[in-house]
Amino acid sequence: MAKLEGIQACVFDAYGTLFDVGSPVRGLTAEIGEKADELARLWRQKQLEYAWLRSLMGVHADFWHVTGDALDYALEQLGIDDPGLKDELMVLYLKLEAYADVKAALTEIRAKGKRTGILSNGSPSMLDAAVRAAGLEKLLDHVISIEDVGIYKPSRRVYRSALHHLKLHDAPAVCFVSGNSWDVQAAAQFGFQAVKVERNPGIDDRIPGKPAARIKSLAELPGLL
Ligand code: LAC
Repeated sequence: MAKLEGIQACVFDAYGTLFDVGSPVRGLTAEIGEKADELARLWRQKQLEYAWLRSLMGVHADFWHVTGDALDYALEQLGIDDPGLKDELMVLYLKLEAYADVKAALTEIRAKGKRTGILSNGSPSMLDAAVRAAGLEKLLDHVISIEDVGIYKPSRRVYRSALHHLKLHDAPAVCFVSGNSWDVQAAAQFGFQAVKVERNPGIDDRIPGKPAARIKSLAELPGLL
């Protein structure tokens, strides 16, 4: 695969890229029962939709709030009436499992003299909790939340804010990595050198923006830099 030239910083999406958003429901499958897979899918889908809808409506609430609203919707829609389950799942969302390839990749990227960071829709406290729980705090130079901007990805304002945080002028100096098609495509459209990590099989979305590279695991990423 062709190398990405001129990269100064490697910035990752958090949820679905570094952290496995399926892990809370997986951890409670026995309690949830046969609707567990559908709950995980609907929770994630509504979490994203509510972030995007609020951005369009101009009524911001942070990602913790949005994640809780999405879970309330999913539980009610699926008729899961289990007092206490929401709180258990939300607590687990603060200590999501990191994918197995994350630590080694961040370490290698650092060793190549590139900065590392997160750019996420997550609120600062959610991101801080997940980063600490996964033991990644020493491997990340920047943890950038959209909260400073008050609008969610894929707004261009968010990708622009990352450049500002990184003190970089040129978008192509950033390698942006995401497992979410909409995010990687929007980042590519903005001008980052975007890499899609194929966490889940799936085709690209029908929106502008084309990833510069596709990888099966973050283990392949240092070789591109
Ligand atoms: C993130 C989610 C939305 O920004 O994937 O981390």
